Amino acid sequence: MTPQGGLRENWARPFLFLGNNPISLIGGALTTASAMILIGFWVVDVVARSGPASPYVGIVIDLCLPGLFILGLILIPVGILLRRRRLKGAGQLPSEYPKVDFSNPVFRRGLDFVVIATFVNFVIVGTASYRGVAYMDTPNFCGQSCHVMHPEWAAYNVSQHHTHVACTECHITAGVQGFVNAKVNGTKQLMQVVFNSYPRPILPENRVPAAAKTCLHCHNPQQNIGDKLVVSASYGDDEKNSITHSLVLLHVGGRDMRGSLSGIHGAHLGRIEYIATDTTNQAIPWVAKENADGSKTEYLSSDAKAPVQGKKRLMDCIDCHNRAAHSFDTPEEALNRAMAAGNPDPALPFVRKEGLALIKATYASQPEAESKITAGLEEFYQKQHPEVLSGQRVQIDQAAKALVAIYGVNVFPFMKVTWETHPNNIGHNAYPGCFRCHDGSHNTADGKSINNDCSICHNLLAVDEVNPKQLAELGLQ
Ligand code: HEC
Ligand code: HEC
Ligand code: HEC
Ligand code: HEC
Ligand code: HEC
Repeated sequence: MTPQGGLRENWARPFLFLGNNPISLIGGALTTASAMILIGFWVVDVVARSGPASPYVGIVIDLCLPGLFILGLILIPVGILLRRRRLKGAGQLPSEYPKVDFSNPVFRRGLDFVVIATFVNFVIVGTASYRGVAYMDTPNFCGQSCHVMHPEWAAYNVSQHHTHVACTECHITAGVQGFVNAKVNGTKQLMQVVFNSYPRPILPENRVPAAAKTCLHCHNPQQNIGDKLVVSASYGDDEKNSITHSLVLLHVGGRDMRGSLSGIHGAHLGRIEYIATDTTNQAIPWVAKENADGSKTEYLSSDAKAPVQGKKRLMDCIDCHNRAAHSFDTPEEALNRAMAAGNPDPALPFVRKEGLALIKATYASQPEAESKITAGLEEFYQKQHPEVLSGQRVQIDQAAKALVAIYGVNVFPFMKVTWETHPNNIGHNAYPGCFRCHDGSHNTADGKSINNDCSICHNLLAVDEVNPKQLAELGLQ
């Protein structure tokens, strides 16, 4: 007998005979259908991939479909073994397996079943996968279905980007490489969630693609924004929650009317490199500027231990706008803004002082924060100002709700995200921000420091003034 003949006799015949059982046939159909869909996805990926896709697309393409494929493969031998055991137990195991012959109705029925089941599986699994992939491209999926993203999801929903810009438009670059990266990362992150080993909190760690591949699809880096007036209100710790205002005229700049780059935007883009020594780019000991003639000026922080080593990064939009789509507030900022909008009502005595203490306190979970903040505010008025509790009950309840809401979009105990976990690099008051470099102690070898004159960045028209005359002059009061 030829070796092929032996194989056919000893292997193929028993395989097909014993495999002709419902479990193995379903397994075969699952395997063929998922293989066809997988190949279809891969072809579409390589040939037609153009836009960004969510990292979790990888869940369907890399995990679910191969999972079904393998499940099918496992079902085939399981069915065979079960059938063999049953026949053997009943003493019906043939001494010679029947010839493989498709004119035999038993074999034909098996084949018909596999063809029909493959087709049905193809339609069902294919539609489900396609819909899954389409859904995974939406912010709803990225932000909501995975609880570890709740902090970013909550902050995203109060940002200006949430109406037009999906998570994927900043987090994933277009093209095959971006897609593959996204799939690899998505699968890795899914594993971390499955094994409960994801980092808490999740920090940015330079995973966001360079602005040129994301932000600049929508924003023109040279747009002349000119000066921008920022007006802010701040409430005091006194009984009256006294209000003061600041007016800052920021020189944002861009390419101005005369064609030259000016202001904050004009000064950096494409010209400044730096090395950070931490993963969130807060500690920056080394900075270099490219001058108009192509030469470089290097600055070293006075507390750096030279030589500074690490990866150089070319400054782009994200180095300042690191919180473009999910900015977390400081407790003071959040409360000032809420009070300026009327709730907590600034007419409630000491509401700013008490409210701030309540949202800054440590709670084990958001539900615990909700009950303790609500009870805490009531208790304060009961003890200190019972007349307010009886007269302004409604305002107190509303104030408690507002405080709980502020806490709810900024502090996430289960992810260890608390006030100040995610610094914002715009400005320099709450976080180092601009002063990571403009602190007056980043110097050239000949002692010149990065400019930190207040007026290069802004005119301070009024700082915490009770009644700044500029507000009236500008018609804002
Ligand atoms: C407008 C662009 C943009 C959009 C839209 C966006 N992000 Fe981000 N995301 C960023 C930037 C920029 C960073 C921080 C980069 C850095 O500091 O290195 C970041 C960081 C993150 C991080 C790391 C942790 C952190 O907070 O720094 C997570 C997680 C994240 N984003 C999730 C999301 C999710 C979920 C969505 C959609 C609901 C989303 N992002 C939408 C730009 C964006
Ligand atoms: C898909 C398009 C798109 C992408 C990508 C995009 N933006 Fe925007 N961005 C917008 C739109 C639209 C607005 C205006 C929102 C409005 O006015 O309602 C905006 C507003 C802004 C603002 C002003 C409002 C604010 O939140 O302060 C900043 C700053 C900004 N984007 C920075 C960025 C940065 C940085 C990136 C990259 C990390 C980025 N954008 C990516 C479309 C985009
Ligand atoms: C050196 C820091 C820095 C860099 C780099 C930077 N910006 Fe800005 N940008 C600012 C500051 C500061 C403001 C004003 C802050 C505010 O609105 O409160 C601003 C404001 C803006 C605004 C809002 C203007 C408005 O009318 O409200 C947009 C949009 C913007 N930047 C986009 C970008 C884009 C896109 C890039 C990258 C090409 C970029 N920025 C790079 C610091 C920077
Ligand atoms: C990574 C370091 C770094 C960060 C962060 C940074 N800058 Fe700069 N910036 C520089 C360097 C270097 C120069 C050029 C130094 C010089 O000319 O003195 C510069 C120049 C400027 C200038 C022009 C100065 C002049 O003399 O005309 C302005 C305005 C400015 N930066 C504003 C800002 C603002 C606002 C922020 C924060 C939102 C910021 N920078 C964050 C490094 C930085
Ligand atoms: C490198 C640029 C830069 C320099 C230098 C700088 N600032 Fe600022 N400053 C900013 C930016 C950007 C903001 C706006 C933050 C925002 O949009 O809320 C700001 C905001 C402020 C505010 C307003 C805070 C508020 O209530 O919103 C004050 C006050 C202030 N700066 C004081 C100063 C003083 C005083 C100096 C000089 C010792 C100085 N700054 C130097 C960039 C700078």
